[in-house]
Amino acid sequence: MANDLKAKVQTQFGAASEAYATSTIHAKGKSLKILTDLIHAEPDWLMIDVATGAGHTALAFAPKVGKVIATDLTEAMVNKAADMAAQRGLTNVETRPADAEELPFADNTFDLVTCRIAFHHFPHPRQALREFARVLKPGGVLGFADNISVADKVAAQYYNDYEKLRDPSHVWVPSLEELQAMLVEAGFVIEVTRQFSKEMEFHDWADRMRVSAEDKERLLEMMRNIPAPLESLLMPHWENDTVYFSLREVVIIAHLWQD
Ligand SMILES: C[S@@+](CC[C@H](N)C(=O)[O-])C[C@H]1O[C@@H](n2cnc3c(N)ncnc32)[C@H](O)[C@@H]1O
Repeated sequence: MANDLKAKVQTQFGAASEAYATSTIHAKGKSLKILTDLIHAEPDWLMIDVATGAGHTALAFAPKVGKVIATDLTEAMVNKAADMAAQRGLTNVETRPADAEELPFADNTFDLVTCRIAFHHFPHPRQALREFARVLKPGGVLGFADNISVADKVAAQYYNDYEKLRDPSHVWVPSLEELQAMLVEAGFVIEVTRQFSKEMEFHDWADRMRVSAEDKERLLEMMRNIPAPLESLLMPHWENDTVYFSLREVVIIAHLWQD
C-alpha cells in the first residue's frame, strides 16, 4: 500500500517537475517568505530540505546557510532542483534522491530540517516526523509548511477525497490540532504557528496535476456540494466557467526538544 502510494508520487511528480519549477504558489508562496524571515539561519548550518520538489525552499535558504542537501523521492524533481541551483550559481546545494520516511543520514546530522507542501503525500507521516527528529541535532530547528483541513471528521474526509481525486498521490491533510499533536509526539517544541489562506483558480490547480476533463467535472460537482464546515476554509466563488477557492496553509517553526 505504502509502496503503491510512493510509486504514484513518482508518476505524478515525475511528469510535473517543470510545472512545479514555474508554479507561483511554490516559487513565491507566502510560506517561503515566513520560513526565511522567521528562521534565523546561521552561515555554518548544515540543512536538509525534505521533499524539495523543484527546490524552491532549498534555494531560498542556500545563501543563508553553509550547505543544503535537497532531497526528494522523485528523481526528476531532484534533477530539476539541481538544474535550478546551477542556474542560480548556488554551489552549496547538493541534491540526493531520498524517502522522507527513511532518510539516508546519520542521527544528529543537521541544524535545520525544512519540509514544505509535501507532508500530505507521506503514507506514514509520524514516521517522517521521527526521521526529521532523528537527523536533527539536539535543539535543531524544523521549518514546516503544509495545508491543513478542518477538525470535523466528515468534512475532513470530503476535503481529502477532493484532493485525492485531483492527485492520486495525495494521502491526508490533517487538521491543525492533529498536526501539532503529531509534532509534539515526535519530540518537537512548537515556537511559531502562522496560518493563511491561498486562493487557487480551479483549472490552473487541476491542470498542474493533468486532471482529465471527466474528473474536472466531478471535482466541480463536489465543490458545488461542499459540507458546511468546509465553507469557511474553501470559500468558493464562481466566475464564468471556473471557480476560485482557497486552501489553508500553516507554517510551523519548532525545535527539537533537549534536556
Ligand atoms: C509540492 S512538491 C514540494 C514543493 C517544495 N517543497 C517547495 O517548497 O516548492 C511535493 C514533493 O513531495 C515529494 N514527495 C512525496 N512523497 C515523498 C516522500 N515519501 N519522500 C520524499 N519526497 C516525497 C514529491 O516527489 C514532490 O516533489
